Amino acid sequence: MARIKTDILVLGSGIAGLTFSIKAARQYPDKNILILTKTVEGESNTRYAQGGVAAVWDEAHDTFEKHIADTLDAGDGLCNEDIVRIVVEEGPERVREIIGWGARFDKEKDSPEYDLAREGGHSEHRILHYKDLTGWEIQRTLMEEADKYPNIKVLEHYFALDLITQHHLGRMVIRVTPGIECYGCYALNKENGEIDTLLSRVTILCTGGGGQVYKSTTNPVIATGDGVAMTYRAKGRVENMEFMQFHPTSLYNPAGENPSFLVSEAVRGFGAILKTAEGEEFMQHYDPRLSLAPRDIVARAIDSEMKKRGTECMYLDCRHLDKEGFVAHFPTIYDKCLSVGIDPMKDMIPVVPACHYMCGGIKVDAFGSSSIHRLYAAGECSSTGLHGANRLASNSLLEAMVFADRIHRDIQGKMEHWDFQEGIPDWNAEGTTSPNEMVLITQSMKELKDIMSYYVGIVRSNIRLKRALDRLYLLYQETEDLYKTTAVSPQLMELRNLITIAYLITRAASHRRESRGLHFTTDYPDKLPFVEYSVL
Ligand code: FAD
Ligand code: SIN
Repeated sequence: MARIKTDILVLGSGIAGLTFSIKAARQYPDKNILILTKTVEGESNTRYAQGGVAAVWDEAHDTFEKHIADTLDAGDGLCNEDIVRIVVEEGPERVREIIGWGARFDKEKDSPEYDLAREGGHSEHRILHYKDLTGWEIQRTLMEEADKYPNIKVLEHYFALDLITQHHLGRMVIRVTPGIECYGCYALNKENGEIDTLLSRVTILCTGGGGQVYKSTTNPVIATGDGVAMTYRAKGRVENMEFMQFHPTSLYNPAGENPSFLVSEAVRGFGAILKTAEGEEFMQHYDPRLSLAPRDIVARAIDSEMKKRGTECMYLDCRHLDKEGFVAHFPTIYDKCLSVGIDPMKDMIPVVPACHYMCGGIKVDAFGSSSIHRLYAAGECSSTGLHGANRLASNSLLEAMVFADRIHRDIQGKMEHWDFQEGIPDWNAEGTTSPNEMVLITQSMKELKDIMSYYVGIVRSNIRLKRALDRLYLLYQETEDLYKTTAVSPQLMELRNLITIAYLITRAASHRRESRGLHFTTDYPDKLPFVEYSVL
C-alpha cells in the first residue's frame, strides 16, 4: 500500500485530463502532475470521437452570435448563457493551440482552408474534423505533447476508488461538516492489487461520461461515471443528470454489440437522409430541419417511428452521395458497414438511437471549481451550464479544452496555500474477503442496464420512473452488502458507480415535471415556463 504525493492529481487521460496537464506542466514547471488512468493512456471517449470540434472558423459566413444561438436553441432554455459565450468565444483559440501541438484537421481539396462540416442543430459549417477519426487524432496529439514534459507522469491501470476528504477516509464516511476539502484519492493499482493513498494539493476530475448505464451505448466500456459517483459519495454537488443524450444513429446490430458503433451525424451533414425500411422520408413530420434537426428531436422521431411500425431500426440513405467523397470523409464508417455486409453506396444503413453523452455531472463554476474545495472537474464528467437540456453536436471536445485551460489559470497562486494533508489513514479493507462473486456482479450489471433501458430511456413516465427507483434500491442494497464483505475490484466499483449514476438520472428525471430537451415524459408532455437545473 504505497503513499504517493503529487502537487497536482489528474484523474483521466482523455481530452480534458491531457489538455489540462500539458497547460499546467508548462505554466508550473516546478510542480509534479500525476495522471491516473484506469486502463491505458489512449483509451477514452475522446479517442472515439468522429464528427469533430465545433468552432467559429470561417469568419466570412459564421459568427460567435450564430454559434451561441445554435447552442442555446439546442439546450432548450436551460443553458447558462454566460458560459455558452465563454466557450464559443474562447474555443477557436483552444483549437489553434492543439493545431500548434500537431493536430491535423482536414483541408478542402487543393486549398489551405479547413474543410468545415455541418452537424445537426448547427446553422453553419463549423466542425473541424480529421476524416471520421477526429478523436483518435486529438488523443494522439495530446499524448505526444504530454510526453514532452518531464513533470507529467502517467500511471496506467490505476483505478481511482474514492476521493479523500475530511469525512471520507479509509473507506468510511465519518461525519459531515460544511466546507468539504479534497486531499487526493485512494486508487487500486490493478497490476499488484494494492490500494494506494494518493495525496495532492489539488485534484482535477476528468473521468468522462457514464453511457455504460444503458444496454446500448456508443461509449466505450470505461464510461462508467466514476468521477460523478465519487463526487456524489463525497457529498459534492451533481446536477442536470436527467439529460442523457441518445445519439440518433448508431449502427443497428441484431446481435448487440458493446459499444454500439456510431454513424456520425456528419454523415447526415454530408447529405444522408433518414428513411423508413420502405425508403420513405419521415422527418418532415417532426421538424422543418429534417434529418439535421437537433439530436433530441431526431432520436425521439426515430424511437417513435420504430414503436409505431414495430420495427427494430430505421435507415440512413447514402446511396445518392458521391462515393469518392463519402469514402474520403468516412473511411471508418464505410469499412465498418462493409464488414457487416452493408455497402452504404448500395444499401441503406440500419440505425437505432444509443446512449451517447451525459449532459449533467459535477456542478462547477466558470473556472471548473466544484462544490468541494481543492477539487475541479472538466470534460464530460462536469456540468458547466454549456449544454442545458441537450448538447449541441461537437460542442463537448470544445468545452473540455476551454475548461482545462480555465482551470490551469484558476489554480495559479492558490496551489501554494493548499498543503498536503497529514494523518490520512491507509485504505481500510477490514472484514473483506477475496472477490469470489463475479457472477453476482455481472448479473446485477445486466439488470441495471435493463432497468435503465426499459424504464428511463428516451420516453419516460411516472410509473416507469417509480419502477426504476424501486428496483434500483434493491440493486443498491445488494451491491453495498457485497462491497462491505468482498475485496474491492474494478468490476464491483464500476457496478457501484453505475448504480449511483442510474439513481441520479432517475431521481432527477422524477423531479422534472415537464418535457424539455432530452427529457420527455408522457405524464408532463409540455414545457414549464420557468425552470432551473435539478441539483442533487
Ligand atoms: P474521456 O475522453 O472519456 O476520458 C476519461 C478518462 O478518465 C479515461 O482516461 C479513463 O480511463 C479515465 N477514468 C475514468 N474513470 C476512472 C477511474 N475510476 N480511475 C482512473 N481513471 C479513470 N464530442 C464532440 O465534441 N465531437 C465528436 O465528434 C464526438 N464524437 C463522439 C463519438 C463517440 C463514439 C463518443 C463515445 C463520444 C463522442 N463525443 C464527441 C463526445 C466526446 O468524445 C466526449 O465527451 C469527450 O471525449 C470526453 O472527454 P473527457 O476528457 O471528459 O473524458
Ligand atoms: C457524431 O459524430 O455524430 C458525434 C458528434 C458528437 O457527439 O458531438
